[in-house]
Amino acid sequence: MARVSGAAIAQRQRARRVAICGSRHHACGPWAGWNLRRDSTLASCLHRTTRIPMPEALPDATLARLFREARTHNAIGGEVDDATLRALYDLLKFGPTEANSCPARFVFVRSPEAKAKLAPALSDGNRDKTLAAPVTVIVGHDLAFYDKLPVLFPHTDARSWFAGSDQARLERVGLRGSSMQGAYLILAARALGLDCGPMSGFDNAMVDAAFFAGTSIRSNILVNLGHGDPAQLFPRSPRLSFDEAARIE
Ligand SMILES: Cc1cc2nc3c(=O)[nH]c(=O)nc-3n(C[C@H](O)[C@H](O)[C@H](O)COP(=O)(O)O)c2cc1C
Repeated sequence: MARVSGAAIAQRQRARRVAICGSRHHACGPWAGWNLRRDSTLASCLHRTTRIPMPEALPDATLARLFREARTHNAIGGEVDDATLRALYDLLKFGPTEANSCPARFVFVRSPEAKAKLAPALSDGNRDKTLAAPVTVIVGHDLAFYDKLPVLFPHTDARSWFAGSDQARLERVGLRGSSMQGAYLILAARALGLDCGPMSGFDNAMVDAAFFAGTSIRSNILVNLGHGDPAQLFPRSPRLSFDEAARIE
């Protein structure tokens, strides 16, 4: 049997990788996606995904539930039990965040005592509906989110990427992540049959003092949760068309 040299094997492997990604500029393997952060020439690998079998789009009724027919509710009632809140978290936690930092922290405000703590911080227009909602979620973010990175991103020292950064950067990363996780919360809630009323009309410093005193957690948004009364919805406001909001380059 003919001996195959190491160089020939390497060449064969390289040819196979090029066959997959079509590029001769770099080695490309299953790790290429992660390397994209460091090597922009790997962007040409993105078309490799065309070889990956794509699952079907979700049924139209599901898309309608999550997006087209879902509304921001002002009159929210009903009940939301602990098991539902845990199921909600166990879905939203899988949404992606920067370096898997998962900076959002959630307080599910449900008891009359907790609602009373929240009430003074609410804008006048948001107070009554928030007190009437079965649950109001405070979505905040931990500015010391990096302390969890040894667990959340264990394959490298990601903590050192953020620890010691200035407050502005930590606030930026935390706010970005908790905003995304807030959006995951809204979609997860809709998927579980709940309605949402997200709000930024409140005094963040007052919420921070009432719920997060002595911690590195800062509030971002509030989300009323429960079952909305469709009879009390305002007409849907328009959205920007694709051409107004987007372009394909
Ligand atoms: C981050 C955020 C902050 C919001 N703040 C408030 C608020 O303080 N009070 C309020 O009544 N609605 C608030 N809204 C609701 C928006 O006005 C509403 O989601 C938007 O008009 C779309 O409505 P629709 O989902 O029914 O189409 C907020 C929504 C978001 C996502």
